[in-house]
Amino acid sequence: MDRSLATLLRSLQTSDHPDDAARLLPVATGLLSRLSNPLNITLLTSQLLSNDVLYPIPTEVARCRQIFSVFYTAVLRLIEDKHSLAQEHTRSNLTVTEWTTAVVHGANDKSPRWRHTLLLGALLLAFQSKDFEGLASGLKNKLEVALVVASNLALQDKDAEPNCELAVVFVLNNTFPLLSDVHRQQISYDVLLPILVDATFFSREGLEHGYWLGVIDYDVRPSPEQKFNWNANSTSFRKVTEIRSRNLVSGLGALSRFIAHSIENVHDQSLIIYCVNRLAEFSRTFATAWRQNKLSEVDTKEESQCLDQETINKTFPVLLQVLRDTMFSVVISLRSVLGRVLCDRVLASDSNCPGIAMQSLHILRDTYFIAHRFGLTSSSQYVFVNFTAIDILSQYPLQSENFLDSIRPVDLGRIPPHPLDRLQDLFFLNTAEHFTLILSPQTNKDLLFNAAAPYVDPQGDSRLAEIFEAAHSVVLAILAAPQNAELALTMVPFYVETLLQSFPKPLSPRQFRLAIRSVVRLAAPPSAVAVSMPHTQAVVLDLLRERMEHASEDLLPPNPDLPIENSQPLSEKAVLLLAIIDCLSFLPVPLLEEHLPLAAELLHKIGNPSQRIQCQRRLWDTLSNGEMDVERAATCVTWWTSRGGREHVLYGDQPEDQDFSMSGALQFDNKL
Ligand SMILES: *[C@@H]1O[C@H](CO)[C@@H](O)[C@H](O)[C@H]1NC(C)=O
Ligand SMILES: *[C@@H]1O[C@H](CO)[C@@H](O)[C@H](O)[C@H]1NC(C)=O
Ligand SMILES: *[C@@H]1O[C@H](CO)[C@@H](O)[C@H](O)[C@H]1NC(C)=O
Ligand SMILES: *[C@@H]1O[C@H](CO)[C@@H](O)[C@H](O)[C@H]1NC(C)=O
Ligand SMILES: *[C@@H]1O[C@H](CO)[C@@H](O)[C@H](O)[C@H]1NC(C)=O
Repeated sequence: MDRSLATLLRSLQTSDHPDDAARLLPVATGLLSRLSNPLNITLLTSQLLSNDVLYPIPTEVARCRQIFSVFYTAVLRLIEDKHSLAQEHTRSNLTVTEWTTAVVHGANDKSPRWRHTLLLGALLLAFQSKDFEGLASGLKNKLEVALVVASNLALQDKDAEPNCELAVVFVLNNTFPLLSDVHRQQISYDVLLPILVDATFFSREGLEHGYWLGVIDYDVRPSPEQKFNWNANSTSFRKVTEIRSRNLVSGLGALSRFIAHSIENVHDQSLIIYCVNRLAEFSRTFATAWRQNKLSEVDTKEESQCLDQETINKTFPVLLQVLRDTMFSVVISLRSVLGRVLCDRVLASDSNCPGIAMQSLHILRDTYFIAHRFGLTSSSQYVFVNFTAIDILSQYPLQSENFLDSIRPVDLGRIPPHPLDRLQDLFFLNTAEHFTLILSPQTNKDLLFNAAAPYVDPQGDSRLAEIFEAAHSVVLAILAAPQNAELALTMVPFYVETLLQSFPKPLSPRQFRLAIRSVVRLAAPPSAVAVSMPHTQAVVLDLLRERMEHASEDLLPPNPDLPIENSQPLSEKAVLLLAIIDCLSFLPVPLLEEHLPLAAELLHKIGNPSQRIQCQRRLWDTLSNGEMDVERAATCVTWWTSRGGREHVLYGDQPEDQDFSMSGALQFDNKL
């Protein structure tokens, strides 16, 4: 026997500490790639797989990865040596196929199956990474079959060492992209899925339940300048850094795509429900842990004032990255779950789908503190999950009501001081808005309206603009639901008053116009509001006109707390007029006839030419773009063409014959 092989084997057999044994692995790698006698290759491989000192219990991915690398690197060397001019005696004279066959023979019954996956996966990955084509036909295929078979058996083995399934997860995840479809389909996803989910979110090699998020609290201390400091030397920071570097966390993106694929391929639907419940459990713990952490008391917008330099520049960003990756993997998994619900009869049944939808929304709510911070709520996966879950749940009024009740604001009727509670109120409002049509008037009032009420406050802090907008949307949705007609009657006058006081602060022009328009539409005959309060529309328009008299023509500053509105800046006065114009399509003909000239007159009360032109454009648009029904459109045409509307709009009160060349003059009549 090769002398160096004999020495190595003896050292391996006599080392009694995993670290000592691991130090021999580089030698083993070099030797393995150089041996020419197949029996020796098999012997060394067998020793590497069966020597328990290399595999301390519980199994750790990092150690398995070392063994994986031995085989992986040995293949790379072998292939490189074939192409090099190295001396005969310093390299293996076996063909790659012979060598591979000899190595695979080392995966025998002296070692457990799960360790075989390390070998098989490493070989496949190495050939793939070298684009190696020289394997005897069928050998690669055999390796793939062997890997899948070994993985399936290993995962089902109830007596295997604790945590050895993590090694299989590691190998499968890394080799999955290169397996051919036929072999992918042979993986027992039913066995794999629960293991994957547990490994990723709960195991000591993964996100470990997320408890560590709360523990950070102990290390967040006041700094000399009265800010929060989370020290880079602290135990909790080191823990987060370590978690981030874990195998199953650093590759979370790929791993979650693997989870998603498994969800799409399991046969037993109950496993999908299991998976959602586990994700919900994880998210709940995560949310609770975050609340225990002082850092959650800092409003995102105030971080620069409340956190010190070290925290802002060094420690906090590391945590944020882990949070973001975690959120991403949760959403990727949920997307597959809901995708299956949409096309699987068992999952879509009445006994399953409302529960899944509800759990999904709970998960989105629990992780909202992450999604909101990073703006992930507009990513396509998130939108799909959110939209689908709401859509499914809203087909079940009773469950919807239970769900909304279970996430009701903690302090119904008040704005809570804790930023996390306000964020959850925002989630509540954004979600509840889509349920107004199916909830009873009582719930609409007691739960939804009361939840929105504190945020429909004209004196509110404009930093909360986003929640204010959400609250107004909820109120409008409540008012618009037919079963709430009675409620609407009592609310409309109060609401109109509030609206007018809420502009220009805290409501944005967009939201203000939307709200006014919605109320006026609501008050259009033959609605219940129109029947009992026939003057509502006229009153709203009069109030707006009155407000215009004294409104400022200064441009409104953009609100930094809201998404940028992609229109030109406007003055308060112009926005009020735009709000009036927005309403025209909902007025009954007599009222419309009355308000067309009024609108034209108001146009000329706007001093700033560019603002005036914007309003003119909008008026022209409303009259001509099909917003109106036939009868109203006819009224507009008559007014425009034969009742002086055109002159009124374009020239104000000036006589028609005056020479006129105004920039942006409108060719409205050509379009009609
Ligand atoms: C390969 O090398 C070994 C020694 O390392 C030698 O015994 C054997 O004859 C060689 N085989 C071939 C086919 O060259
Ligand atoms: C962290 O610890 C090292 C030595 O243990 C020390 O030199 C360094 O100043 C510490 N850093 C902070 C921010 O406390
Ligand atoms: C999973 O595999 C991908 C390649 O497919 C790799 O980039 C990622 O790091 C792996 N993740 C883990 C946890 O091993
Ligand atoms: C923190 O980061 C900002 C920009 O990201 C940089 O300007 C500043 O110098 C950094 N401060 C420290 C103390 O590293
Ligand atoms: C979910 O989607 C609806 C629209 O379908 C949206 O109004 C709501 O804001 C979304 N929820 C979150 C939390 O983003």
